[in-house]
Amino acid sequence: MNTLHSAPGTSHEDGHRSAPPKKLHILLVDDDADDHMIIGDLLRETMADRVHLDWEPHYEQAKDKIRKGEHDAYLVDYRLGAKTGLDLIRECGDMGNPAPFILLTGYGDHDVDLEAMKSGVSDFLIKAQLNASMLERSIRYSINHAEAIETLREREESLRSLFDAAFEGIFVLAEDGRILDANSTAGTIFGCRPNEMIGGFLQDMLIDPEPLIATENARQALGRRCLDGGVVHLELHSKPYRFRGRACILTACRDISERVQMEAQIFQQDRLASIGLLASSLAHEIGTPLGVIRGRAELLGMKAGSDPLVNDNVAIIVSQIDRVSKLIRSLLNLARGDKAAHLAPFDPQEAITGVMDLMRHEFSHVDVKIRNELPPGMLVSAIGGPLHQVFLNLFVNSLHAIRTEIQSGKNKDHHLRIFAVDLGDRWEIGVEDSGCGISKTNLKKLFTPFFTTKDFGVGTGLGLATSYRILEAWGGNIRAESEEGKGATFYLSLKKA
Ligand SMILES: Nc1ncnc2c1ncn2[C@@H]1O[C@H](COP(=O)(O)OP(=O)(O)OP(=O)(O)O)[C@@H](O)[C@H]1O
Ligand SMILES: [Mg+2]
Repeated sequence: MNTLHSAPGTSHEDGHRSAPPKKLHILLVDDDADDHMIIGDLLRETMADRVHLDWEPHYEQAKDKIRKGEHDAYLVDYRLGAKTGLDLIRECGDMGNPAPFILLTGYGDHDVDLEAMKSGVSDFLIKAQLNASMLERSIRYSINHAEAIETLREREESLRSLFDAAFEGIFVLAEDGRILDANSTAGTIFGCRPNEMIGGFLQDMLIDPEPLIATENARQALGRRCLDGGVVHLELHSKPYRFRGRACILTACRDISERVQMEAQIFQQDRLASIGLLASSLAHEIGTPLGVIRGRAELLGMKAGSDPLVNDNVAIIVSQIDRVSKLIRSLLNLARGDKAAHLAPFDPQEAITGVMDLMRHEFSHVDVKIRNELPPGMLVSAIGGPLHQVFLNLFVNSLHAIRTEIQSGKNKDHHLRIFAVDLGDRWEIGVEDSGCGISKTNLKKLFTPFFTTKDFGVGTGLGLATSYRILEAWGGNIRAESEEGKGATFYLSLKKA
C-alpha cells in the first residue's frame, strides 16, 4: 500500500527513503455529483498530482470496486439512496481488503459516529466542516493506521502458523483446566478442530486424568479415547504461563502410543521366554511319569475285569491324566511358536468357516447373530493349523463373554462380527462381540500366560498368550479394545501374502 507522508521512522520510509511517493488512489462513493466536484477540488488543493480520485455513485458497483482492492482508501458518503454508507462498509468488512474507510456525512450525528466506529470506520468527517488540510490529514492518518493494523495482523498470523506447526499438541488452559487455546497438532491428536475444544476441559477428553500439575518438570502419561474408539497414550508436560494478562497453564502433549506398545511387547516377550524354558523342562519331568501312570492304570483296569468300581476309577484317573497332558501340550505350543519359514499364502476365511462349523452346536444354544464381513479372496501370510487355533480361542472367548452377559440379564441383540481393514501391506482382522467386555485392569493382563477369569477347569488362561506367540512369530500381532459391559474387539494384524 502507498502512503502520502509516512510517519517519520516507519519501516516504509526507511526502506524507500529515496523513492518518490507513489500516487494514492482514492475511491469516492457518493451519489451526489456536486460533492464529487468539491472533494476533487479539496484534494487537488493539498495533494495535487499525488492523488488520483475515482468516483462511483452506485452502491452495487461500489461494492464490486471495493472487492477488487485497487484503492488505497475509500471516502464513503453516509447517504447512498435506499442504503447507507455504513451498510456498504459493513458488507465489505469481511472482503479481506485492508484499505481504510472514511465516512462522510452531511451533519454531525453522535449515533452515526458511534455506529461508524463499531463498523471499523477509520474516520468520520462532516462535509459542511470539511477543508483541504483536514481531508488530507484524515486520509494520511487512516492509511497509516490501516497499515499498522495490517502489519500486526500479519505478525499474529505468522505466530499462529508457528504455534500450529509445532510438533507437539499445545494447550493454553485456565487454572481450572478450561481450554483457552489449542494448536492444530492438539486437534490432530484429539481428532477434532482446535476451535471445537476451546471452552471445554482437557480433563474431560482424557481417560482417568491425573490432576494437571503445572510445574517446570511435570510429566504425566495419560490415555484418551479418540473418535474411532481407540486408546491413545499421551505424555503431558505442563508449566505455569501468562496468557492475555492472566495466570494460566501451558500444556504440551505428545502421542506416545507406539512407545507404550513396544514396551508392552518387550515385557510380553520376556515373560514368554521364561515360560518357554519352564514348559520344556516341565514337559520332560512330568510328561514321562504321567505316561507311565496312565499305562499302569489301564493295565490295572484290564486285570480287574468287569469290576465296575475299579473300571470307573481307572476312567477317572485316565481322564485327569489326559487333562494334565493337554495342559502341558498347550504350554509347549505357547513356548514354541511357529517359525516364519513355514508361512504360506492362506485365506483366513477358510479357518473361520472351519471353526464356525466346529462350533455350530455351541452357537445354536445362544442367540447370537454372526456377521462375517471378510472380503472374498483375501490372502495372508500364515499357517492354517495355528490360525484355526487362534480363531477357535477368540470365538470361544466371545461366546463365553456373551453367555456371561446373558446370565447377568442383558439379553439384547447379541452379535459376533468378523471384519477386515486393509492397512496397505497388512490385513487387520477384527473379531467383535457384544459380550460382557473387559475391565481396564484385566485388559492389561489379557496376553499374560495363565491369566483367566474363568472357573477352574473352564479356562487355563493360555488361549490369548498362545495366539500372541503365534502371531508374533509370523511378524504380526494381536491387540484388544474393550470396555466393561460394552463388548470386546480383538484385532489380528497379519502380513498380506
Ligand atoms: N471376548 C472377550 N470378552 C470378554 N473377556 C474376554 C474375551 N476374550 C478374553 N477375555 C478375558 O481374557 C481372559 C483370557 O483369555 P484366554 O483365551 O487367554 O484364556 P481363557 O479363555 O480364560 O482360557 P483358555 O483359552 O486357555 O481356555 C479370559 O479369561 C477372559 O477373562
Ligand atoms: Mg480362551
